[in-house]
Order: sequence, then structure tokens, then C-alpha cells
Amino acid sequence: MIVHSLADLARARGRLPGTVAFVPTMGALHDGHRELIRWAGKDADHVVVSVFVNPLQFGEQADLERYPRTLEADAAICDAEGVAIVFAPSVSDVYPRPLEVSVSTGRMGRIVEGEARPGHFDGMATVVAKLFGMVRPDKAFFGQKDAQQLAVIRRLVEDLNLGVEVVAVPTVREPDGLALSSRNRFLSGEERSTALALSRALFAGRDAVPGGAEAVLAAARPVLEEAATAEPPLLPDYLVLADPATFDPVEPGHRGPAVLAVAARVGATRLIDNLPLEF
Ligand code: PAJ
Repeated sequence: MIVHSLADLARARGRLPGTVAFVPTMGALHDGHRELIRWAGKDADHVVVSVFVNPLQFGEQADLERYPRTLEADAAICDAEGVAIVFAPSVSDVYPRPLEVSVSTGRMGRIVEGEARPGHFDGMATVVAKLFGMVRPDKAFFGQKDAQQLAVIRRLVEDLNLGVEVVAVPTVREPDGLALSSRNRFLSGEERSTALALSRALFAGRDAVPGGAEAVLAAARPVLEEAATAEPPLLPDYLVLADPATFDPVEPGHRGPAVLAVAARVGATRLIDNLPLEF
């Protein structure tokens, strides 16, 4: 069932007995989203999926306008996966008036990906808090693909006591390594070949884990540098080895979990990827 208004969502939600697992999305659903929906379905009585392109988390108007919108196909995927409710509100349903109160993410929202996209994590955390209030789920499923988003959400839930269990789902990749993303559809064939350097850099880094944190970065960096001379070129934004909970860079002799995260632009498309590692 697809609902648009908050009132219809509340009615449909009220009729669901048992536990509810929530998968927030911006639509243009692919097999990565599908994996989240499947995990959610195994873990609760009902699944609710939201499809909402949140203006608050976009920096550039052009990026917001360009974001793919494929609601009919999204609804068909959700149907096929047995989703109980697809919640697809309009911007005015979610933001009937300018917000007076919103979520501020602090340092975690300003570093790494947050440095490249000022205000992005505040806007993302604000809409997720609002969606949690609207859907009232028991659990919510997020992709490891957006590792810093996942870390921010965990702190959002903890710091504001939102009472939602957060579950992380591993990144779904194409057979050649490219992480699935709604933005991949913008890549030409040549751009896609160049973009493979992101995952190749991460895999090279992973192979160097026994040598420690510095060896990981030293193994990953040349893969990006080489792609920067390809045609079309990769324009690297950052390559960091970060604490998965805070996203602060780890120390050279680091022991324990870390996440190797990369961002780069190919043509007009900005891509991110990461791999969780254990030292
Ligand atoms: P969106 O980019 O649509 O992603 C929705 C969810 O799908 C996120 O949790 C994301 O991490 C996950 N996802 C995307 N690609 C994936 C892949 N290849 N493998 C596994 N999971 C993947 O993230 C957002 O929307 C928004 O910021 C949102 C949380 C909905 C708030 O607006």
C-alpha cells in the first residue's frame, strides 16, 4: 500500500499488529535498497519503506533537482518484497512550514563527508528524526554504504533517546566491485570504468591490513592517483581511515575496527564508498 499524507500513514501504521521495521530511502530503489528491505522483513512482522528526496540534506539546488525520481518502479519493488506500507510524502507534507527546531550533529557532522557537504548531516539527521516520529518503528535499517551517515544515526538515536534499534546492512556491490548507488545511472561507460578505482582502492587497502593503518592508506592511495590520470579522470575528494563510531581519523598504530572511506568525482557525479576493516 502506498500512502502520501501523514494522516494516511498514521491510519495504516495503526492497523499493523506486531513489530515494524523501517527502511528510509530517497527512492530510485536498487538492489542495495532491496537488501535492506529483505533484512527488515526477516527481522519484524511488517516493513515500512519511506521514499522522500529530502531537500534539507542537499547543498546544491542542481543536485536536488537532478536526483532521480522513479516512484512507480519503487512501489513495484516494494510490492514484490512484501512491504506493508510505502510512505511517499511531498515536501509540504514533511515541511509544512519552516522548521524552528532541528537536529544539529556537531563535530561528527562536520568532518570527512561533512566537510565536503556542509549542512548535509544536519538535514539528514533532522529528516530521519522526523520520519522516526511519523513511522514509529521498532527497528530501522541503514546501509554500511553510507558509513558516516550510519554513525551519525547511531548517535542521533542514542543522544536523543529515540528508542529505535538501528541495524546496519553490508554494502551491495556489482560483480566488478562498484557499490550500487542511485547516482551510478548518471555514469557513462567510460566514467563507470574510471569509477571502479574507488572499490579497487578499498580492496587494495584491505589487503594491506596486516601492515597496519599507514600501510592501508599507502596501498589504497596509488590506485586513486592512477585513476586521476585516466580518461575521463577521477577527481579524488578524500581517502581516510576513520573510527567507525566517530569518523575521527585513526592513529598510525591503531588496533580494533576502522573504516576506510573514499569520495571522488567522476564527470558530474560524486561517488562515495567504504570498507569496514579490523586491525
Ligand atoms: P538513500 O541514498 O536512498 O539510501 C537509503 C538507504 O540505502 C541508506 O541506508 C543507504 O546506506 C542504503 N544503501 C544505498 N546504497 C546501498 C548499497 N549499495 N548497499 C547497501 N545499502 C545501500 O541514505 C539516504 O537515502 C538518505 O540520507 C536517508 C537516510 C533516506 C535520509 O534522507
